[in-house]
Amino acid sequence: MDTNKRPDSMERITTVQLAQDFISEQVAALQAQIGDKKVLLALSGGVDSSVVAALLIKAVGKQLICVHVNHGLMRKGESEQVIEVFGKELDANLVYVDASDRFLNLLSGVSDPEQKRKIIGNEFIRVFDEEAGKLCNISFLAQGTIYPDIIESKGVKAHHNVGGLPEDMQFELVEPLKLLYKDEVRLVGDVLGLPHNMVYRQPFPGPGLGVRCLGAITRDRLNALREADAILREEFENSGLAQHVWQYFVAVPDFKSVGVRDGKRYEGWPAIIRAVNTVDAMTATVEEIPYPLLHKITDRITAEVDGINRVLYDLTPKPIGTIEWE
Ligand code: XMP
Repeated sequence: MDTNKRPDSMERITTVQLAQDFISEQVAALQAQIGDKKVLLALSGGVDSSVVAALLIKAVGKQLICVHVNHGLMRKGESEQVIEVFGKELDANLVYVDASDRFLNLLSGVSDPEQKRKIIGNEFIRVFDEEAGKLCNISFLAQGTIYPDIIESKGVKAHHNVGGLPEDMQFELVEPLKLLYKDEVRLVGDVLGLPHNMVYRQPFPGPGLGVRCLGAITRDRLNALREADAILREEFENSGLAQHVWQYFVAVPDFKSVGVRDGKRYEGWPAIIRAVNTVDAMTATVEEIPYPLLHKITDRITAEVDGINRVLYDLTPKPIGTIEWE
């Protein structure tokens, strides 16, 4: 039997009851597979790895060791939420690694987007590997593989994902979500009690803000991007748009324009807002954001974020523009 094929008889998980049944079955299966051994998981805080973590915590508790690598390119508050939810509320065995300086030092002066992605991906593996090397007697590696990853295994995600781990790791794989679609993963996460904003969050590229701080990343511009992005998210949530828009974010290019603040010349970067809807990320349309909201976001970003003096809205559909800027 091909264990990577979803059986035709498998019912779509659409209700709390079905999610509970899935959780009970998986908890029993995970306990049988893992026994009293230890499992390692790279926990990014994204939907898939978070749901795997919650499921494994329920099944084997402290035998799961979650490693959260903060590459310094997370959105505002994300690493903090991982620590709060998994370290504190779920009392998980969590190793938090703040590797921001390592990543940002390696990225210093690098402007080519593919080169940036490679550096981030390789360093992620190196940091994770080092942490794994410090732990003893790990038998299993858990992964947040979901069914679309298997179907598209040679497509977008495989080449995109920073979480691609070394092939020579000597662990047996644990992939409890590998037959589920994203909506099912979200429902299971909800029923497991994970916070709504974690389970329903929008897709976020593995290289994080690294591909939105355009060109060579500097710490000051990265900070400006993170703050502007947080304001955009807050305003989308408050206005209810967050539920209707598939992906929305800010990108900050590495050039400045002239502005004026408090009667003085004020040079700053532009914050570019992108908000798109799509089904499969292959094509995308631009969301029509009400002008009053755009004005409010512009006012807040230019007033609250150091270094930003203009706000632009990207009106380009995909194609011709990709969703990300690099
Ligand atoms: P593009 O920019 O190709 O993006 O239109 C399509 C979707 O993929 C996400 N994306 C990435 N995801 N690593 C990822 O894990 C990446 O390097 C990456 N680049 C783009 C993007 O956010 C969008 O959802």
